[in-house]
Amino acid sequence: MVEERFKTMTTKKLVDYVEKIYHEPIKIFFTEVTPHVNIVSKKYSGLDKLQESFVLFKRNIINHINREEVIIFPAIIEYEEIYERKEDMLLTSSEIEKIINQADMKNDHKRFEDFIDKTLESLKSVEGQGDFSLDFVINGFEKFKRDIQKHWELENETLYPRWTELQQELRKMI
Ligand SMILES: [Fe+2]
Ligand SMILES: [Fe+2]
Repeated sequence: MVEERFKTMTTKKLVDYVEKIYHEPIKIFFTEVTPHVNIVSKKYSGLDKLQESFVLFKRNIINHINREEVIIFPAIIEYEEIYERKEDMLLTSSEIEKIINQADMKNDHKRFEDFIDKTLESLKSVEGQGDFSLDFVINGFEKFKRDIQKHWELENETLYPRWTELQQELRKMI
């Protein structure tokens, strides 16, 4: 359950919070952990597929974050402002289609979390006690998992219900 203060926060403030507290650290995490993922995936036969799947995972999360920052979050903010002023929404039908037809973002959250769990499982299954890179990747993924659970929970319980509401309103317009 997210804290009560988030439920009443304006979308603009929520978005600023999510971007600063959760999105920015994800980019830093990727920069720091990537060299160590490359090292351990070459060193341990049980992790030989890790490098490839990690590249794909990074690309998918960065795409997800970009869709949120560039399309979805600004659309909810704009909708909220228009709704408060009780004005008509001046969107072209292709803009509406684009906003409505975003992939299922909550489903993405679930898939990313499954990848993190599977990765942690395979990282912990190799015999590499005392290996700096292996410990770095494991600790990094564990912290990443804790942060990401709070991140998804906040989005799922505050921003995405607002997003669903906006999609419903837009569907009425086409
Ligand atoms: Fe996000
Ligand atoms: Fe998200």
